[in-house]
Amino acid sequence: MENGEILVIDLFAGPGGLGEGISAAQTSDGKSPFQIGISVEKDFHAHKTLTTRAFFRSLKTKSQPLDNYYNYLHGKITRDKLFELHPDIATEANQETLNGAKELGKDNKLIHKRIKDLVKEHKGPKVLIGGPPCQAYSLAGRSRNAGNKSYVAEEDTRHFLYKEYLEVICLAKPDIFVMENVRGILTAKVNGQVMFPQILEDLRSPGSVTKHKKIPKYKIYSLVVDAENPEDPQYKDSADFLIRCEQYGIPQARHRVILLGVREDIKTTPETLKLCDHQVSVEQAISDLPNLRSGFSKQKDNAKDWETAVTKNAAKLKRILKKQFDQESANSLNLKPKIGLSRIETALSDKTPAMPESLKAWYIDPNLNVVLNHETRGHMVDDLLRYAYCAAYAQIESSSPKSRHFPKELAPAHANWDTGTHADRFRVQVANKYATTVTSHISKDGHYFVHYDPQQCRSLSVREAARLQTFPDNYIFEGTRTNQYVQVGNAVPPYLAQQIGKIIIQLIFP
Ligand SMILES: C[S@@+](CC[C@H](N)C(=O)[O-])C[C@H]1O[C@@H](n2cnc3c(N)ncnc32)[C@H](O)[C@@H]1O
Repeated sequence: MENGEILVIDLFAGPGGLGEGISAAQTSDGKSPFQIGISVEKDFHAHKTLTTRAFFRSLKTKSQPLDNYYNYLHGKITRDKLFELHPDIATEANQETLNGAKELGKDNKLIHKRIKDLVKEHKGPKVLIGGPPCQAYSLAGRSRNAGNKSYVAEEDTRHFLYKEYLEVICLAKPDIFVMENVRGILTAKVNGQVMFPQILEDLRSPGSVTKHKKIPKYKIYSLVVDAENPEDPQYKDSADFLIRCEQYGIPQARHRVILLGVREDIKTTPETLKLCDHQVSVEQAISDLPNLRSGFSKQKDNAKDWETAVTKNAAKLKRILKKQFDQESANSLNLKPKIGLSRIETALSDKTPAMPESLKAWYIDPNLNVVLNHETRGHMVDDLLRYAYCAAYAQIESSSPKSRHFPKELAPAHANWDTGTHADRFRVQVANKYATTVTSHISKDGHYFVHYDPQQCRSLSVREAARLQTFPDNYIFEGTRTNQYVQVGNAVPPYLAQQIGKIIIQLIFP
């Protein structure tokens, strides 16, 4: 690594969304200064994804031919073969991800040694990125834990994993750090005490927590609200740290807390993210991807039976819609199944990408010629009709139906369907709006991620979810389909991270 470059230390790296975006950020003269030195991730499949991507980035940085990488994406060679064909790049990529999944708190000896070595070798600027796991903070996690009588928040080590992060700040003394978390971190309590002010205090003065000596202090900035006094940034409202991704060109309402820590000796004030003058809809983000049909779960699956079931549903659905809406709206919808669809598609469609130009350049790799991770899951036959109903409803109303909108005959046999707890048990991602938050729940069932096309009757594929998260199309997710959904749902949108990367460049090279 050259010293003009910025060393990136990526903790809790997931599939690498934050690292991908940051490393794509360029200086005004087109140079990419960020170089990931280490990515730490404990999940086996996310780690594999990270390593494949590290390999790809390294091939590109070294201007080596990408043919073998594309051959791997096309399924022409295995990943082992790919790595064998480029042994030096493979060694580097494996080293970057520590030759295996590693856990902070458990494998600290090895992780800390590698960080110390990198910091010793690298005399230039350093950036620490990553968010400690959010399950313990997250609002969903808390409501789950509320039902668990034996759960004691202060004994949950995940609450304190951010201290692992503080430990690494002390080891690396980075110029800048970026800490991402769910919005629940703003209100999470331990012993009745809201933790966020304490977390901010700890991050401003990490040495006071870890007891390391001569640790610099940090100024903590919001990326969306200007500090009244940039020398000593304080914010009236903790929600000032909340970033609403849909305002920054991401086709998804993802609201996350991101803290920007700047070492006290750095006198430049960070800019805030620039609001995007347009919002990107689900349809703009995914409509050029090939059509797919869903499969059947719990019964034998084949295209003919799917077409028969969806044709039967279409007639029933027309009757339902005519009762609920006016004849004209109901008649205007085409609900018949698209014929000849598969559950998995790797060939590009002939549809033109519909996203804004800047995003097109971000997603599309003209040399890729294959669609990755684009496969549907199976659904219960009764749910197919509910999916078609949601999609048809959204075409008429431009919103997703709540359970109270469902006609009685479509109500599932849930005891609490009508009680309000499941007010939106099914949610269609409305074509002309940005998506709702893509979470790792998408790995469990597709009910919140129904595709807007009633003729496809299905939930989103991993690739479509990855588009909503702004992963470039040549980013491959490793592991089973379920593992891939988890990774995509956990990530920071790389397109947002790239914008943060540009702010860091301005801070470091003013
Ligand atoms: C929210 S995700 C991170 C997303 C990532 N920053 C991105 O942009 O793609 C958190 C990740 O931390 C990992 N993780 C949780 N505890 C960990 C630990 N103790 N050590 C290493 N990784 C951990 C989880 O497996 C998960 O992939």
